Amino acid sequence: MVIRTLIPDCYSIAALDFDRRLFDSLIPLPDGTSYNAYIIKGSHKTALIDTVDPTKELDLVSDLVRLGIDSIDYVIINHAEQDHAGSLPMVLELFPSSRVVTNEKCKDLLLHHFDLEEDRFILIKDRETISLGNKTLEFIVAPWVHWPETMLTYLREDRVLFSCDLFGTHYACSDLFINDEKISYIAAKRYYAEIMMPFRSSIKGHMEKIGELAIEIIAPSHGPVYNNPEFILNAYHDWISDSVKNEVVIPYVSMHGSTRKMVEHLTRALIERGITVKPFDMTVTDTGILAMSLVDAATIIIATPTVLFGPHPQIIYATYLANMLHPKVKFASVVGSYGWGGKTIDVLKSMMTHLKPDLLEPVLVRGLPGEACIKDLDRLADEIAQKHKDIGLLPA
Ligand code: FEO
Repeated sequence: MVIRTLIPDCYSIAALDFDRRLFDSLIPLPDGTSYNAYIIKGSHKTALIDTVDPTKELDLVSDLVRLGIDSIDYVIINHAEQDHAGSLPMVLELFPSSRVVTNEKCKDLLLHHFDLEEDRFILIKDRETISLGNKTLEFIVAPWVHWPETMLTYLREDRVLFSCDLFGTHYACSDLFINDEKISYIAAKRYYAEIMMPFRSSIKGHMEKIGELAIEIIAPSHGPVYNNPEFILNAYHDWISDSVKNEVVIPYVSMHGSTRKMVEHLTRALIERGITVKPFDMTVTDTGILAMSLVDAATIIIATPTVLFGPHPQIIYATYLANMLHPKVKFASVVGSYGWGGKTIDVLKSMMTHLKPDLLEPVLVRGLPGEACIKDLDRLADEIAQKHKDIGLLPA
């Protein structure tokens, strides 16, 4: 779609997807996305780093033609997921002498996902290199960011890290480099929350390895390129750290207003105690915003009516998602209203297997929240405030 010079003899050939609004049939994309491939012309060899989503493979071909690329020696595949490796079969067909350079796990995944010839592969191990003549590519195997086979590629002489999904943003932007750090920060945090957060502990280890490299540019496989790597590295150091903020996230649903009243009262009570509160009506909330709010929050309160015998299905979804994304929340509870009975608390507790929070006494009321319920909500607000004080988020 567009060819831009990253550094001399190295080009970004990103397929910009301004109109895509959903990824993996799951992740909302308010700002579209891009699939970034890169061409590096060394003095002896040419390498293509990653390909693009198969829906954009004609854009990739057109860019390679316009760049005058008549042979590719190495196709570096950092990650086997289709949005980056999906055009690999076409590239290998167009450039029959090219070889796929990747690690063993990635080769295995590629062979399962695409119809490829096994003898086209060159396997590398962590920290091994290949030479393009005057340029050297070093491979950093970084499993679980966010698949088990992922690796990063480091262009030594020019100090460019091709980080694949790590540090990416779902942000279709016509500028090669980020032009507004505030906008990119939000996009990067949303992306981290939705894709990388479950692998926080793996990423910690990889960040140490990355910290040993001299890096001038980070070129991810989604979104604009970072020419100030410290910006995104500092953001990741904060997000993957163990520290949480004085924040309570409340995903909620209300059918007839009782749970809403409880949420409104609890929100007020927490604000009065000096706590930042983020309530989200899950019937209208973009799940990316909920995920982002969970990156830093110390506490999550799930608020739901009881539908038939358990939580509202939208709350089941929000709780499942929160548990799967595995944020670093430390405290949790449940509030809500029921008509005649049910197992709402038990169901929600059983869904927090990854979160493993310190569970605070829930507040469940039959029908309308009356005076006793309001007192219970104040008790919960006091308890949350005390927990936040205990870990230094509020003054003692
Ligand atoms: Fe952008 Fe894991 O693919």
